[in-house]
Amino acid sequence: MSHDTIAINRRMDRFDRHDSVWLFGYGSLIFKADFPFIERRPASIGNWSRRFWQGSHDHRGTESAPGRVVTLVPELGATCHGMAYLVTPEEFAHLDHREKNGYLRLATDIGFEDGSAIEGIVYIATHENAAFLGAADERDIARQIAGARGPSGPNSDYLLALAQALRELDKPDAHVFAIERHLGELLAQQLT
Ligand code: BEZ
Repeated sequence: MSHDTIAINRRMDRFDRHDSVWLFGYGSLIFKADFPFIERRPASIGNWSRRFWQGSHDHRGTESAPGRVVTLVPELGATCHGMAYLVTPEEFAHLDHREKNGYLRLATDIGFEDGSAIEGIVYIATHENAAFLGAADERDIARQIAGARGPSGPNSDYLLALAQALRELDKPDAHVFAIERHLGELLAQQLT
């Protein structure tokens, strides 16, 4: 299955002539920054919630057993906490490739803990992309994650690394933590 978004993202050239751009990370970007950055700061964006609603056939699962990774869904009044990276615009080519399975660049206001804000970029996989799986019971999401593994490793490693990174940021996320708890219960059952 191909959900290639590289060409679409390349056309989003709004920041191409800037010396640097802030990129908001809310998923793997919080715990895996495999690109050069100038600076990073805890940050948040408004009216979005993090959800394990995006399928992963290329990183944390396969075509026959897709994993689940996070995307953002609109939710009025919600705040999504994460980590912002100041990067040069050239880094987006790398990120477009790494996140080619349905994620699109979106310009957004990024807020910092000192109260300041700046326009930057966030990658979002909307319900319109072919790999989108959508809402499910959090216990079922945990079950799917427990059974998925892809070229980037077990889907459970992704979940656990994200939950740990949010704990380190002191930004609890009820959805992520509930799925982590269900995963722990499933693994404990397997041992008995
Ligand atoms: C992020 O961690 O912000 C991210 C998630 C998916 C695709 C690109 C970025």
